[in-house]
Amino acid sequence: MLDVRDLTVAFQSKDKAKTLVPALDGVSISIGRGETLGLVGESGCGKTLSSLAVMGLLPESARVQSGQLLFDGDDLLHLKDAERNKVRGVRIGMIFQDPMTSLSPYYTIGNQLMEGLRYHMGMSKKQAKERALDLLQKVGIPGPERVFHEYPEQLSGGMRQRVMIAIAISCEPDLLIADEPTTALDVTTQAQILDLLAELQRENGMSLILISHDLGVIAEMCSRVVVMYAGQVIEQSEAKALFADPTHPYTRALLAATPRMTEKQERFYQIPGAVPAPTEWGTGCRFRGRCEHATAECGEMPPLSRLDGARFVRCWYAAGQTLQGREVRA
Ligand SMILES: Nc1ncnc2c1ncn2[C@@H]1O[C@H](COP(=O)(O)OP(=O)(O)OP(=O)(O)O)[C@@H](O)[C@H]1O
Ligand code: SF4
Ligand SMILES: [Mg+2]
Repeated sequence: MLDVRDLTVAFQSKDKAKTLVPALDGVSISIGRGETLGLVGESGCGKTLSSLAVMGLLPESARVQSGQLLFDGDDLLHLKDAERNKVRGVRIGMIFQDPMTSLSPYYTIGNQLMEGLRYHMGMSKKQAKERALDLLQKVGIPGPERVFHEYPEQLSGGMRQRVMIAIAISCEPDLLIADEPTTALDVTTQAQILDLLAELQRENGMSLILISHDLGVIAEMCSRVVVMYAGQVIEQSEAKALFADPTHPYTRALLAATPRMTEKQERFYQIPGAVPAPTEWGTGCRFRGRCEHATAECGEMPPLSRLDGARFVRCWYAAGQTLQGREVRA
């Protein structure tokens, strides 16, 4: 359904030199109909940027340098505006990482919900109001009639998040991108929102890209996982295989740093060092400053190699280990 191919995005610096600073580097991510794909990686790795590129909502200073954004075979980067508007926000919905910056403080919840329904679905005011109230009910908002007339600041974080979901699903999208949909919420609300997403998916056969720092949530919800590091995809796998046997040293470290994913919950492991800034990327593997398996070979960028079935890894060591294992087994 969605096939992001080799997407490279850079930011233009604000100074006179207008230098281009890379942010996404050859990112390829695809998702099929009805599938749930998890997108993980530390802060600043490019998860939100990849989603914003799909939505056509990159910041003004961002430049798509190369790549394709194929949606049902059409490249979103080259569609005419009218065609593109039928896809983004309609067939693809997005729940943004920060609901307060994406909901307007100046319009009531009702108006913000009705806007898309009237503009994209051609509904009359009466039809749009009925549908908006249905949607508020569906996402579990008590007293939809009251909330319809309220402004975002009058709602709690959990309620705002539900409104965001209602807006994102209002045009019955084929694909929903949920960027940290539960991070700011308490555990109970978190569970309710995730249940709601799973239910919507079951009902409509919708595809879901779930971005989360919470690997427990990813393990529970997703059938496939893409791991990003410093603007690149570094591992991609069926979720079960990834959690049972992560191959990339970064994926292993991420799992070890998630208490819920390890048996010894009392020990909290932290990955040493930090994600390098684009100016520090250099030519080799971007994880090598933090990697216990790094060798001289890692001064050259490893390709994203296919290991077996649906598993891909960008690491000389992991690819070598698995290939050796195969030879031994053979
Ligand atoms: N407006 C911007 N101007 C310049 N660079 C930016 C801008 N937005 C993002 N970037 C660059 O793109 C990188 C990726 O950012 P992105 O928001 O996609 O990260 P993320 O993986 O979603 O992180 P988080 O987990 O914190 O949400 C950042 O590290 C930064 O280098
Ligand atoms: S390529 Fe080398 S430095 Fe990079 S993750 Fe693999 S072993 Fe570590
Ligand atoms: Mg983000």
